[in-house]
Amino acid sequence: MELIDGKQIAATIKSEIAAEVAAMVERGERRPCLAAVLVGHDGGSETYVAHKVKACEECGFISTLIRFEDDITEDDLLAVVDELNNDPTVDGFIVQLPLPRHISEQKIIEAIDYRKDVDGFHPVNVGRLSIGLPCYLSATPAGILELLKRSGVETRGRECVVLGRSNIVGKPVANLMMQKNDPGNATVTVCHSASRDLPEITRRADILIAAIGQPGFVTADMVKEGAVVIDVGTTRVPDSTRKSGWRLRGDVDFDSVAPKCSKITPVPGGVGPMTIVSLMRNTLAAAKGEIYPR
Ligand code: GUN
Repeated sequence: MELIDGKQIAATIKSEIAAEVAAMVERGERRPCLAAVLVGHDGGSETYVAHKVKACEECGFISTLIRFEDDITEDDLLAVVDELNNDPTVDGFIVQLPLPRHISEQKIIEAIDYRKDVDGFHPVNVGRLSIGLPCYLSATPAGILELLKRSGVETRGRECVVLGRSNIVGKPVANLMMQKNDPGNATVTVCHSASRDLPEITRRADILIAAIGQPGFVTADMVKEGAVVIDVGTTRVPDSTRKSGWRLRGDVDFDSVAPKCSKITPVPGGVGPMTIVSLMRNTLAAAKGEIYPR
C-alpha cells in the first residue's frame, strides 16, 4: 500500500506557482489577486479560509479577506459580489459556503461574474466543464485529478465509482473522470443515498472516490483488493486527546481499508491541500486571462 501524499504534492505545485508569479513580477506584471468573502464564524469555514489566505502568501498572490457577521442581508451580500465583479484589481473571488439560511447560496453563486468564479460553481463554468470546454474547474475535483496524475494512476478504461452526488464534488468529479482526457476516460458509476447493494457496486471500483461526509462509511468489505481510494471526507469528530477536542476524519475507515489498497489518500493531508492548490491555479489562470481573455 502506498500513501498518496497530498500535502507534499501540493507543496510542489505551490512552489511551481510561486516561480511563475516571480517571473510575472519580474516582467512588470501585477501579482494575481484573490478575494475571499466569509460570512459568520463557522469553524470549518474559518479554517478553510485561513488556509486559502496562507496559500496565497506562499504563491506570491495578493489576498483580501472580507468578513461579515451572519446577520448580513442577502441584498447587502449581493452588493458586495457586484463590487468585486467590477473591481479591476481582483482577478478572482470566492464566497465561502455554507451561508446563513436566510441567504440563497444559489442566488449568490449566480451573481458572481463567471469570469471571476475561481471556485467554478457558476452554472456557466459547470456547464462548460460538462461539455469539455475550458473553464474554472471546481477545486476539489480538479485537485483529485491532479493527485491521480501526479501519483501515476492510470484512469483510462478503468472502473471509477464515486460515492456522493454533491454539486461541489460528486457531480463534477464524475464528469471529469468520464471526459475523453487524461486523467479521465474512465467508466464512471455514481452512488448516492438511494443506491442499492452499495458494497457490490463499490467493490467493482479500480478507483473509489468517497465524498459523502459520513466518517468511516467505507469499510474493508466495500473495497476491491488493489483499488486506489480517494477520501474526500473531512468531518470533525470528538477527540479528547487533542487540545482542540476534535480531529478530522475521512469517509473511509482508513485502518481496515488501507491494507487492501494499492494507493490511498490520508485525512488530513490527502485531498484537502490539493483543493486549496486548485484554487490557486484557477486564480493564476484568471490573472493571466488564460480561460476568459480580458
Ligand atoms: N465550502 C466547502 N468547500 C468550499 C469551496 O471549495 N468553496 C467555497 N466557496 N466554499 C466551500
